[in-house]
Amino acid sequence: SLPSKATIIEVGPRDGLQNEKKFVPTHVKIQFISLLKEAGLSEIELTSFVSPKWVPQMKDAQQVIQAFSLQQPTNNRHIVLVPNEQGLTKALEENCQSVALFIGVSNSFNQHNINKTTAEALHQQLPLMEKLKERNAYVRTCISTSFYCPYEGKINPDKTVELCAHFVEAGVTELSIADTIGMANPKDVFTLFSALKRAFPTVLLNAHFHDTRGVAMANIYACLQAGVTRFDSSAGGIGGCPFAKGATGNIATEDLIFMLDEMGVQTNVNREKILEAVSYIEPYLSHPVSSKQYRLYQLA
Ligand code: HMG
Ligand code: MG
Repeated sequence: SLPSKATIIEVGPRDGLQNEKKFVPTHVKIQFISLLKEAGLSEIELTSFVSPKWVPQMKDAQQVIQAFSLQQPTNNRHIVLVPNEQGLTKALEENCQSVALFIGVSNSFNQHNINKTTAEALHQQLPLMEKLKERNAYVRTCISTSFYCPYEGKINPDKTVELCAHFVEAGVTELSIADTIGMANPKDVFTLFSALKRAFPTVLLNAHFHDTRGVAMANIYACLQAGVTRFDSSAGGIGGCPFAKGATGNIATEDLIFMLDEMGVQTNVNREKILEAVSYIEPYLSHPVSSKQYRLYQLA
């Protein structure tokens, strides 16, 4: 049987925009986020504190956060992604209460993405948990290349569970398990998420699927069957990691909501309003939005 409710964590403003070559003006990012919030999304990755040399699109992280820092009702999570102490310091200076750490299972991916091996990245990130706990911050860890790495190929699921365990032991209460380049299949997804549920019964498990090969929706269905109820998605299906060869966008929020709505799985997100947010951001993107629901919306 399927869960009666699911939660969507919108990653469009971060994962969606980070790969855009042309700078999206800060006020446009802010308006995009505002529209997403109006659609009922209460958990949103707003931006990331990463090196502006590596990801110039995110160089306005501070201004983006400041636009929302006064609106922090407890049921809203404004998440900011950080890879290291420098990023965390900036986030805490802005009083961010929700932080996402990120790391890949694969060494080669981490070397491309954050210039560290997996062991070095762990060594750098685990101590950050102390500061986060002091602040009573909400922490998620995004686990990239959980299934497949663009450089190393298939990842052994035991290695993914093992990496997650380090963060759970350090106090992380939420894991976002990512298929960075959209290579996972529903069978492996069911197996890994079932193993994670057994290993970490009290941890919130999120699924983060890029839809590079069109299998993301089937993978989400496999997650629902494994009892997973939290999904990262991006409005318009925009996005991708600049340091993962062949990565494309996340599963589109509006397509995901359509499927969940039709199956009676409640999200409390307004699909029409998501589509309005997508049509607002589209002119600022270097490519047309290709989600199924957006196509229909344009035809209507
Ligand atoms: P590095 O060059 O090894 O770092 O980069 P460094 O410590 O030697 O510092 C180099 C420069 O960066 C210095 O500036 C630092 O001040 C600055 P300089 O002296 O040259 O002017 N710096 C920073 N600036 C701002 N914020 C920071 C920060 N840290 C250092 N936090 C680093 C290491 C991690 C910084 C770099 O590799 C980086 O920024 N990588 C970003 C990677 C990224 O954003 N990837 C996309 C997000 S992850 C993702 O999309 C996957 C996910 O969606 C899940 C999935 O789908 O798999 C989450
Ligand atoms: Mg991603």
